[in-house]
Amino acid sequence: MDAALSQEKELSAYGLIDGPDSVTEVVLRAMSGAQDARLRQVMEAFVRHLHAFAREVRLTEDEFERAVDVLNRIGRATHGAHNEGILFADAVGLSTLVCLLNNGGAGPTETAAALLGPFWRDNAPPTQDGGSIVRSPTDGPALAVTGRFTDPQGAPLAAVEVDVWHSSPSGFYENQDATQAEMNLRGRFTTGADGVFRFRSVLPAGYPVPTDGPVGELLRAQRRHPFRPAHLHVMGFKPGYKTLITQVFVADDPRLESDVVFGVTRELVGNYVRHSDGGYTLDQTFVMQPGEAKRPTPPIS
Ligand SMILES: [Fe+2]
Repeated sequence: MDAALSQEKELSAYGLIDGPDSVTEVVLRAMSGAQDARLRQVMEAFVRHLHAFAREVRLTEDEFERAVDVLNRIGRATHGAHNEGILFADAVGLSTLVCLLNNGGAGPTETAAALLGPFWRDNAPPTQDGGSIVRSPTDGPALAVTGRFTDPQGAPLAAVEVDVWHSSPSGFYENQDATQAEMNLRGRFTTGADGVFRFRSVLPAGYPVPTDGPVGELLRAQRRHPFRPAHLHVMGFKPGYKTLITQVFVADDPRLESDVVFGVTRELVGNYVRHSDGGYTLDQTFVMQPGEAKRPTPPIS
């Protein structure tokens, strides 16, 4: 600590704490010197709500110890291939709330790192318009997708680089499943002058999130299943537009209204149509907002 800061701290007085009612004020006073206005605003609100929460539930000492233990174990469960912190934020609905506070309002435009999920891989094989992304024998109902990218006024967006990826009909992404070829059910497309891209695949299936950490314990205690309903991941990238990251859910999935990570918003339920031959088609429009085009960091390589 430098001398000036140490002197400033000695001269400051936040007040004496004389009971549970005064501790919040004293803490807020202690934090009020933050230079960064946004940091000051966020931390003040955080402490007010955190203290109010402890008062509301009359948090016991045992529960406090357990909460700290859970936090520490969330950290220890996180490594290069798994992010338990994000999973926890997902499982309590915070990721979706933050996403909706910052995006949306014009059809399926929700965009957030949370919606990227843990399975996007960069450099999916460029695939010709209308081509198949089934790269090794994969049993399941056929799916033909027609996607359309527009600007907020509905004008077609050409030359959007579109990544699509999804789980197999048995619920595994290619990188989790030795029976699938490299980059199976993943592809990269470019929209034409009409803003359209098309591809053929098989219908994705729902799958469970990892349950061997603190989030799994919480789900079991709350008698919640660990599954996500079936969905197709789509990312649109075009300079001059905010990168669109989204998921399009299969409407007849039995878990559509019980997604373990609360990712399903009304706008993201896709118009999958089941045909008499057992195959499906999906026709979906994606609206991109003007903004900064940024490729996310791939969560896996
Ligand atoms: Fe997914």
